Amino acid sequence: MLVMVMEGEPVNVNEFQELARQALPKMHYDYYTGGAEDQYTLKENVEAFRRITFRPRMLVDVSRIDFSTTVLGYNISAPIMIAPSGLHKLAHPEGEIATARAAAVSNTIMVLSSMSSCTIEEVASSCNAVRFFQLYVYKSRDVSAQLVQRAERNGYKAIVLTVDVPRLGRREADIKSKMILLQIKNFEGLSSTKVDNDDGSKLEAFAKRTFDDSLCWRDIGWLRSITKLPILIKGVLTREDAIKAVEVGVAGIVVSNHGARQLDYTPATITVLEEVVHAVGGKVPVFLDGGVRRGTDVFKALALGAQAVLIGRPAIYGLAAKGEYGVRKVIQMLKDELELTMALSGCPSVKDITRSHVRTQHEKF
Ligand code: FNR
Repeated sequence: MLVMVMEGEPVNVNEFQELARQALPKMHYDYYTGGAEDQYTLKENVEAFRRITFRPRMLVDVSRIDFSTTVLGYNISAPIMIAPSGLHKLAHPEGEIATARAAAVSNTIMVLSSMSSCTIEEVASSCNAVRFFQLYVYKSRDVSAQLVQRAERNGYKAIVLTVDVPRLGRREADIKSKMILLQIKNFEGLSSTKVDNDDGSKLEAFAKRTFDDSLCWRDIGWLRSITKLPILIKGVLTREDAIKAVEVGVAGIVVSNHGARQLDYTPATITVLEEVVHAVGGKVPVFLDGGVRRGTDVFKALALGAQAVLIGRPAIYGLAAKGEYGVRKVIQMLKDELELTMALSGCPSVKDITRSHVRTQHEKF
C-alpha cells in the first residue's frame, strides 16, 4: 500500500488530493472523488495514461519552451483548462469565485458549471478572464434559454453542452451518504434552477425531474438558434457521435466520460481520443478530460490529437486544500511538469508534439 508522507508544500496533484481528503467532511470528499457503480472507468481514466510511454527525441534545442496555445481563438498560457464541476462551495466558502480567479491569474479558461454554487453574474464580476458556460438542458426550455442568455449577457465566450447526463449515473457513495440535496438547499446561487428539496429527494432524483432526457441531435439546432456563442459538445466517446457533432455545426468536441461519474465501463477517455480525432479530421478542435493528473498526461493527450485538456478533480482538490491559491498551485504544477516533459522529449512548443512522441500499449514502431 502506498503511504503518503507529506512535509511542506504539496508537490503533485496526488498530494493535493490527500490534503483535500484531510480538509473535507467525508461526504463532500466522496462526492468529489467518487465515480459510478464499480468505478472501473474511474480507475481506468488514470491507469490508461500510465500505459502510454514516450518516444523522446534528443539533441533538440529546448532552451526555450513555449506551451501556450489557443482555444477558439483565445490565447491561453498552457493547454490546460478547468472543467465544469458543481458545488465548489462544498470545497471552499468562496466556491467558484475562487476557482475563476485562479483560472484568470493562471491565464486559462474556466468552464462554469450549470450546477455552480455561485451565480453566473457573481463569477463574471469577480474576474475578467475568458470564461465558458456549461449547459445542462432542462425539461423547461425557458430555463435553459435564460441560462444561455445570462451567460451571453455576462460575457461568457462559449456554451459547453454536456450530453452525457440524460439521467444521473449511479454514484453509490452519494446514495449512501444522502448528503447532496441537504447541502444544495443551503445555496442561494445555484444558477441552474430553483431546487425544491422539500420531498428530501437526492441529486439523482433532482436530475431526473429536471434534466431533459429527450434531448437529441436535432435540438442542437434549437440551441444554435438561441445563441450566437460557439457551442462545444462535451461527452463524446465514439467516432459516430463525433461525425454527427461536426454535421450539426459544433465548434469543438470534448472527449469525456464525465470523470467516470455516468456510465461505468466506458473506456478511459485517452484510449478513445484518437478515434474521435480521426473522425473529426481537423474540422473542429478536440479536447479531452478525465484522469489528467500529471503534465505527462497533458503531453500524451496533445500527442494523440487533443488541442487542450480540462481538469476536473485536480482543481477541486486545490480549492479544498488551499482555496484560490490551491487551484493556482495545481495549475502551476501541471504546467511545470508539462514544461519538463516537453524539454525531455525534444518539443520546444506544443506544435512540436506529434503522434510519434508517444507509444500506446500494443504499438510497434
Ligand atoms: C463533474 N463534472 C461535471 N461536468 C459537467 O458537464 N457539469 C457538471 O456540473 C459537472 N459536475 C461535476 C462535479 C464533480 C464533483 C466532478 C468530479 C465532475 C465532470 C467534469 O466536467 C469532467 O468531465 C471530469 O471531472 C474530468 O475528469 P477528472 O479530471 O475529474 O478526472
